Amino acid sequence: MMNPAKQTIGVCYYPEHWPESRWEEDARLMVAAGITHVRIGEFAWSKLEPNPGAYNFDWLDKSFDVLHRHGLKVVLGTPTATPPKWLVDRMPDMLAVDENGQIRGFGSRRHYCFSHEEYRKECARITTEFAERYGKHPALIAWQTDNEYGCHDTVLSYSDAALKGFRNWLAQKYQSPDAMNRAWGNIFWSMEYRSFDEVELPNLTVTEPNPAHVMDFRRYSSDQVKSFNKLQTDIIRKHSNAPIGHNFMGSYTDFDHYAVSEDLDIATWDSYPIGFLDRDSSDDENKARYLGVGDPDLQAFHHDLYRACGEVRNGAVDGRWWVMEQQPGPVNWAPYNPAPYPGAVELWAWEAFAAGAELVSYFRWRQPSFAQEQMHEALLLPNGEFNEGYHVCEKISKMLKQMDSKAQVVRADVALVFDYESQWAWEIQPQGKDFSYIELVMRYYRALRRQGINVDVIPPTKEAVTGRKLIIMPGMFNVSEDFAAALESSKAVILAGPRSGSKDENFQIVQDLPPGALRKLINIKITRVESRPPHSPVLLQDDLAFEGWREFVVPEAGVSASMQSEDGHDAIFENDRMIYLAGRPNAPLADYIVTAALDKAGVAATRLHRDIRVRDNNNVRYIFNYGPETIDCSELIGDAQLVFGAASLAPRSVTAYKL
Ligand code: GAL
Repeated sequence: MMNPAKQTIGVCYYPEHWPESRWEEDARLMVAAGITHVRIGEFAWSKLEPNPGAYNFDWLDKSFDVLHRHGLKVVLGTPTATPPKWLVDRMPDMLAVDENGQIRGFGSRRHYCFSHEEYRKECARITTEFAERYGKHPALIAWQTDNEYGCHDTVLSYSDAALKGFRNWLAQKYQSPDAMNRAWGNIFWSMEYRSFDEVELPNLTVTEPNPAHVMDFRRYSSDQVKSFNKLQTDIIRKHSNAPIGHNFMGSYTDFDHYAVSEDLDIATWDSYPIGFLDRDSSDDENKARYLGVGDPDLQAFHHDLYRACGEVRNGAVDGRWWVMEQQPGPVNWAPYNPAPYPGAVELWAWEAFAAGAELVSYFRWRQPSFAQEQMHEALLLPNGEFNEGYHVCEKISKMLKQMDSKAQVVRADVALVFDYESQWAWEIQPQGKDFSYIELVMRYYRALRRQGINVDVIPPTKEAVTGRKLIIMPGMFNVSEDFAAALESSKAVILAGPRSGSKDENFQIVQDLPPGALRKLINIKITRVESRPPHSPVLLQDDLAFEGWREFVVPEAGVSASMQSEDGHDAIFENDRMIYLAGRPNAPLADYIVTAALDKAGVAATRLHRDIRVRDNNNVRYIFNYGPETIDCSELIGDAQLVFGAASLAPRSVTAYKL
């Protein structure tokens, strides 16, 4: 990066929730805590346009001015996640429709269908107002489009607008119904169509719809998010030079985030480590151990994933990413909402900064005493006094200043492919009830982190695989000839399987049998797959096993097979370039195979304690203790110079030292 940004902290602020007389005090307290960035505006449509066309920007102008006077920088959100009631009443068919045909009505947020053309026009109108008015404001540092696309499961909509859009999309893609019939295999069960106007959305069918039909609907829906976002970014760029971001979510995959990121300058995401723990697939022991700090790998995975998104538009070296919302206390939306353990909020900030975040911004400034999120903690209590999070901000901002900390990232030797279409594919066709792509990818990610190495999560592109030593790509649905060629020319060691390269882009089993185009790299054929219930893993040796998924592989010339299962089938297939694992690894097997792959690729690794994670950033190594006990890391640190922390890490603490 030419000019790496200083790392800093921010906050999400809703001036419209509080009397104007308090705004000066808020700004003063923000500055006193070392906050530099303030996000505002993203849900304020009803206050900005109380009646159609009758704008009321006075209050937002004032808020900008107050923040500006205190030297604070504004991140301005477009308010399109919360269209006002009068707008919905004017065109009720803008509402999304769920899979069961129920309308998703007004009274919370995200009540719109991405495909609705007239709603898009309204978004263009309000975005234009925003961009013209604030695009050159001296306090403006960045834009946020909308808020959390897809939150509350809002990408897939089965509305009339979506049906119309989908038919057009299919007509453009296939040109003729026959071509579509062939691609989908509609000869099966007499599903052939004579025209695109006969095609319905893939809900409300008697039994499962054609997977190719669903896949195209998922692609169409993802494309709607991209074009909806681009409508706003195109308008903003006409009036403003400030960079544009959008706040992505954790464990959320219903649209292709790489594709949306092509139109964004900064990738940002919303990190709620404790809230996410419950959604995590780990067992109860793990959840209890990390109750108040969150899973040691889940937020880290998203930092790495969204860093990759930040690189899509600007290229690897100039990628930018932020944490737009960071939990500072208990949230309100998980089944249970525990408080962070002492040290946890600080640890999260360093996990993000170590991964190259420019900004960690807290959600939110002050806890409201009203409406849906009144139980969600903030930096200030509902009465305006300091809550614990405020003091954490004071501390972190001071440390960042002292360290003169900059957002820099170095390309990692090891890359893990994450591909959105693969997620959709295995949701559409899990074949075994609990088969989850993201969870499979996480198994490999966890194993890599346990080896103490930096990992880049990457899209399946030539650019992203170039220059790596090891590339891991489990479960990748469709490996194109081009991508296989890129892998081949990358010179990296490749670890793949299970299910990698098993389908073509039309959701058909690849012609030459799986792993399809990967057969260029390893000469094997997969002739049978089986899925198995949790009570019947495939036992290999010691505690190594396949859980839920196993493949029967026929190796051909130049491929060696090893590690027999109890019932006599080989599990690992290998040549000098590539390893193929024929099943879904349990945690010990993921550790085993990742260690073997690192070794084959010549990447040095250090097996860490279960609670310890490390991250290297330029010449600093950060060590994190996610666990409940003090852990001595002096062996790891040796006589290196400490930047902060101690060689003996207290529970949920961080130490940084010079490499
Ligand atoms: C995010 C959202 C915020 C707020 C927050 C609460 O998903 O963007 O507006 O609702 O969650 O944790």
